[in-house]
Amino acid sequence: MLPTWIQNGRPVTVRVAGRPITIHALPLVLIVLGLVYLVYPSKAPSYGYLPRQNTDDTLWGLHRTKSPFLVPPRDILPFHHKLPQIPDNFPEPVKPKTSGMRVPNSVHYVFGFKDVAEGQSPDELPYYAYLGMRSALLNLRPTKMYFHYKHLPTGPWWELIKPHLTLREMDPPEEIFGHKIHKFAHKADVARMYAMKRSGGIYLDIDMFVVKPFDDLLYYPTTLGMELATDSSRSPLDPQGLCNAVIIAEPDSPFVDRWIAAYESFDPDDWAYHSVAKPWQLAREHPEEIQVLNATAFFWPMWHGNEVEKVHERDEYDFIRSGQYAYHAWESLAMKYLRELSPHSIRTEDTSFHRLVRPFIGPEDDETYRKWKQGEK
Ligand SMILES: *[C@@H]1O[C@H](CO)[C@@H](O)[C@H](O)[C@H]1NC(C)=O
Repeated sequence: MLPTWIQNGRPVTVRVAGRPITIHALPLVLIVLGLVYLVYPSKAPSYGYLPRQNTDDTLWGLHRTKSPFLVPPRDILPFHHKLPQIPDNFPEPVKPKTSGMRVPNSVHYVFGFKDVAEGQSPDELPYYAYLGMRSALLNLRPTKMYFHYKHLPTGPWWELIKPHLTLREMDPPEEIFGHKIHKFAHKADVARMYAMKRSGGIYLDIDMFVVKPFDDLLYYPTTLGMELATDSSRSPLDPQGLCNAVIIAEPDSPFVDRWIAAYESFDPDDWAYHSVAKPWQLAREHPEEIQVLNATAFFWPMWHGNEVEKVHERDEYDFIRSGQYAYHAWESLAMKYLRELSPHSIRTEDTSFHRLVRPFIGPEDDETYRKWKQGEK
């Protein structure tokens, strides 16, 4: 039953701050309905931030059966990924940069897993890797920059960057779920995921150059970027996979747990399946657990065709204008360019790459480079 004043269609008088205001019944009803309509959608589920809420009543507005046989969602046993033995001596997570952010303000590198022959000394840290780490220091401003290693690098660039790092020796993982890990690159794949699981933060490959802060990415439990397929007829939304050269994650993130658990089917002879194709498959199955960025965000330009050559020899691509967060230098394919970098060449040669790394030259680089070259002779 409606109140009599609505049935009669008579105006009502309310007093606001002592002054009487007359409201006609129909507009009043419409205003009330309008407010209800405006308020209601804000109660609808918001997509994405956290794993779906499984309430007893409704799920995304869908009603479950009233059948007495229904097992109430709260009685459904939570799912736990089956995880391998993960060392627990990784550093405690540092705090995120600001409240509301989920990802700790730390950067992680994994380095020196390659065996060093008896009597040999480990490799020098190359100048480009030093510049890459400086790009992370300058643009991400981490509380801690962790360097997980088995063999420390050597040389003048290492000595210059070392004071900014927190060194952590670790044994490379030798097996996962009973599968022996032979390739040192696969050991590094697994080690970075353990670091993300335990400490969280931003994992970067040593040939990643950070172009701008990642701040807007740090509010979600996990973020990865697409790596496009080399077949250019494929849509940019149908990538090769998600590349593990950048991993942004909170500790114990549901996606990283899922990804580690997927190593149960690890095939030590398949090069990039678990590091690139697998996370993409998992992201498609569980899109609510992860933010996926398109290929321009971290892995653009690509490494195939003459893309690497163009970046290093021409000045067509602009890493600032693209808006991208970082650039993966595909070190094994670009080595002939990366090896030749010097503070002088970076300042004087105008190519896309030289412009990209120019801001990362350190105050002592010219002097260090000069002595280094003298020492080589
Ligand atoms: C990715 O998104 C950016 C920003 O919208 C766009 O400019 C770029 O073309 C996209 N790249 C790819 C490979 O889809």
